[in-house]
Parts: sequence; structure tokens; C-alpha cells
Amino acid sequence: MKSHESLKCYKNVRKLVSITAYDYFSARYAARAEIDFILVGDSLGCVIKGEKDTKNVTIDEIAYHTRCVRNGAPDILVASDLPINSYKTKDDALKNSQKLVEAGANLVKPEGYCPEIVCTLIQEGFRVIGHLGYTAQYFDSPRVFGKTDESSQKIIQEAQSLDSIGIDCLILECVVDDVASHITKSIQSPTIGIGAGPNCDGQILVFHDVLGFDVGFKPRFLRKYRNIEKEMIEGIREYRDEVIEEKFPRKENSY
Ligand code: KIV
Repeated sequence: MKSHESLKCYKNVRKLVSITAYDYFSARYAARAEIDFILVGDSLGCVIKGEKDTKNVTIDEIAYHTRCVRNGAPDILVASDLPINSYKTKDDALKNSQKLVEAGANLVKPEGYCPEIVCTLIQEGFRVIGHLGYTAQYFDSPRVFGKTDESSQKIIQEAQSLDSIGIDCLILECVVDDVASHITKSIQSPTIGIGAGPNCDGQILVFHDVLGFDVGFKPRFLRKYRNIEKEMIEGIREYRDEVIEEKFPRKENSY
């Protein structure tokens, strides 16, 4: 999807597909696979930095990775996460969103229900993605939202409120299918699910999860489309073995 296009145009037309990306090549692959929009997620804390959660990711790191992604996908719609502590006040949110836009983001995404921040950003001309349900910035371990009446009423009301403020789309993470489905029908913005069932307007997954960088990672919401971990280890081992066995470099690799 071109960077100026509105995600809302696709609601009830066709499903939207998003994937995270963090660097030049992951963005290039996502663009070539005709993904609708890329998210430079703060999941980079885990899949790039190897940390246990997203709580140490900084705005400068997201800006850096946004620049890398933009280099790999010059024309596609790119959204970037506002990491933890980067949108505590309206001034912080504006200053840090501006950093991400200057790095190449078309949209910014704060986590959780923060209507005043979202409203300020939209009033100042930023395009915003909402993110409700399980938000790793605020919880220590994954959990499913909308299991009780109270929890489902809360998330439905929050989704409708963010929608009325004017978000471009809403990510629903780990939300009971029926609740995600109800939200999808009751708001104008497209819902993008991750662990929120098949009735959302679209889906998002983490790049490394789709391709199977970690065979041991098997959350219920994930379907792995490749097992790249095995491929990569085998490739690197083959290279190692050939060097030790003096099969590489060959004549054709030498000057
Ligand atoms: O950081 C991230 O990758 C995300 C997705 C899981 C939606 O926020």
C-alpha cells in the first residue's frame, strides 16, 4: 500500500496484511511480498536485541530501525511504535512522533488506551494506530482480554472511543474472538488482529515468527510459514565445514 493511502479504504473491501520489520532486508522482503503496511515494532527489544521484553526499547532505537526499514521499502506504508516512556506527556508524544516521522514513519503507534495523547497527535497532523488488548509495554506476561463481561465492555468502549478520535486502524492483541468481532463491526477503523481471531479486518505478525526464526516459540495465535532457523543454521554450518575442510574458497572465489 502506498504511503499516502488510508487503511480505512480497505474496510469491508478486503483483509489487510501487516508484518513487522526492523531492517533493510526484512523491509525489502515485506515490500516485495506486497504486504500492506510494515510495523517497526518495539518487539525489536526481543527479536533484535535479544532482551526478555520490550521495556528497554528507546525512541532513538525505533527511529534508527525506522530509517533502515524506509531504506528497504521506500514506497510502502510504514508505522513505528512509540516505545515505553516516550509518550507520557503530550509534549513527549509530539516530539517523539516527529522523530519517527523524520526517520520515515507514516504512522505512529502508542500502546494501550491513552485518548488524550492520541487526540493531541491527530490534532497536530500525525496518523495514529491504536493498540488494545495485550500490550507488552504494560504487562509482564501475555494474557487474553475480553474473557469476562467487565473486560469485554472495557475494551469495546476503549476501541470505540479511539475510533471516534480518528485513528487510522486498531491493533487488537490477544482478544477473545467474539469481542474482537464485535469491535470490528462497531467501528469505522479497520481492526488488525494478532491473536484476535479471523473476523478482524486484517492480521499482523512478527517477521521472525512468520518465518520460524525460533522453532521453540509456539504461541497459540502463531502460524509459522517457514522454518528458517534450520535453513540458516545448516547454511552457516556448511560454510564452516567447507572452510575447515579447505573446500572454500575455491578457484572461482579467488582473484
Ligand atoms: O511490537 C510489535 O511487534 C507489536 C505487534 C506485536 C503488534 O506491537
